[in-house]
Amino acid sequence: MKIAFFDAKNYDKPSFDRFGGEQDVEFKYFEAKLNEDTVELAAGYDGVCVFVNDTVNAAVIDRLCELGIKLIALRCAGFNNVDMKHAFGRIHVVRVPAYSPYAVAEHTMALLLTSIRRIHKAYIRTRDFNFSLNNMTGFDLHGKTVGVIGTGRIGRVFIDICRGFGMKVLCYDKFPAQGLDNGDTVRYAELDELFAKSDIISLHCPLTEETYHIIDVDSLSKCKKGVVLLNTSRGALVDAEALLAGIKSRHVGAACLDVYEEESDLFFEDNSGHILEDDTLARLISMPNVIVTSHQAFLTEEALSNIAETTVQNIVELLATGSCPNELCYRGGTAEDCKSGKCF
Ligand code: NAI
Repeated sequence: MKIAFFDAKNYDKPSFDRFGGEQDVEFKYFEAKLNEDTVELAAGYDGVCVFVNDTVNAAVIDRLCELGIKLIALRCAGFNNVDMKHAFGRIHVVRVPAYSPYAVAEHTMALLLTSIRRIHKAYIRTRDFNFSLNNMTGFDLHGKTVGVIGTGRIGRVFIDICRGFGMKVLCYDKFPAQGLDNGDTVRYAELDELFAKSDIISLHCPLTEETYHIIDVDSLSKCKKGVVLLNTSRGALVDAEALLAGIKSRHVGAACLDVYEEESDLFFEDNSGHILEDDTLARLISMPNVIVTSHQAFLTEEALSNIAETTVQNIVELLATGSCPNELCYRGGTAEDCKSGKCF
């Protein structure tokens, strides 16, 4: 089987070559992202393998079908970049529903600790032999309330980590998890209560029509003054202009962003020699209380290995049998989600 692999990075190749080699799946690596201009590169392949910032819209899907491509293999969990309704009945779409929730949850906590204990500032200061502690005062996480929006795989690992720090957890999910709410240290609440009572808010839900800009001017106005916002999920969950206004007005105490709504032309690439056109991102990055990482929460050795292994399995199973448990249904859930009514 021959697969055209778009948006390839050096760190992808070793694990995909290893697992692909074991199953006779040959990957051809293209640095280009998949979009209407690059879709022709897929000619002659059995399937395409894509990541979070490839564009899989109706036009791209139509052209892939014309080229005889049978399969779009997402090497990620989120699928907001695929027009699932258009794909239905035309082409199979598989994904990697879970590869390491620990990677993302641990990165989220790393960002939080870095931010509130000013580690990013300390690192730069001590390299310059500046051992002053002025403006370095942080706060204890113990006893604080964290609001977790989305209590799926990653959200639940993050909750476990927060509980280890002695934090209280308020959760919100469209489909609450059984057995998570203990009526005390972990409790489901409506969004308004979560916004009003949380010292820290962390986003772990998918990007859907319902969750688009779930953090906006209105929701931020309901938050405590000094709230710390964590987003390691998808950029468009947050209205970046509203966040910037909240930072400037001092209403938002800090923000840690691994994702950004307009990240697709910037993240994963070295833009250090270019003038950044995005004024909102540039202003956010300039803030002392904003930390931005470049969609790297997933990037651990364990996650890369699991992503490659599951993607290869998905490709082999789907192309051999015509179905696969990790196939997405037309409404964007998995076959399993459909059965449990969790398909959104
Ligand atoms: P999951 O599917 O296990 O959990 C998502 C949870 O969100 C589910 O419990 C679901 O019921 C809930 N949800 C759905 N609609 C909702 C709504 N309208 N409001 C509130 N909750 C809602 O997914 P998982 O593995 O925990 O991943 C969560 C998100 O993390 C992904 O959708 C993806 O966007 C992001 N992600 C980011 C990565 C990174 O490197 N920064 C890597 C992997 C995932």
